[in-house]
Amino acid sequence: DNKNLSVDHRLTQICEALESKVDYYDWVGFYFKNGDKPELKLRAYAGEETDHKIIPFGKGICGQVAVSNENFVVPDVKAQDNYIACSIFVKAEIVIPLFVNGENIGQIDIDSHTADPFTDADTDFLVWVNKKVAELLEA
Ligand code: SME
Repeated sequence: DNKNLSVDHRLTQICEALESKVDYYDWVGFYFKNGDKPELKLRAYAGEETDHKIIPFGKGICGQVAVSNENFVVPDVKAQDNYIACSIFVKAEIVIPLFVNGENIGQIDIDSHTADPFTDADTDFLVWVNKKVAELLEA
């Protein structure tokens, strides 16, 4: 419907803004839990198209955050066993869960081509972004 279309559009704008303004944010996307299925579905992104539009709970960094409800900062993706590679250029990743009414409904996922780029300031900023997105979804 119209409301979902405009939310999709605004999520895409947020992804595009983050990807273009922060030099070490090279791919930015929002995944959401896919109805009653035990999987995440890509809803909006900026950067290269990815084959990983559906991610089962527990798989990869994203799938782990779907079940842990915890922020996950990966300074070196090569050091992770449970990791889904989207691009050979990616060196680091950050995934921050998105809560609405205390429920983990999805996440923001950012890939970087820079090694170990993410600090606590990125975590704090992306937690704040997700709070704003939660307000957008509730509106
Ligand atoms: N690397 C992620 C998969 C999503 S892509 O980064 C877009 C993961 O391990 O879950």
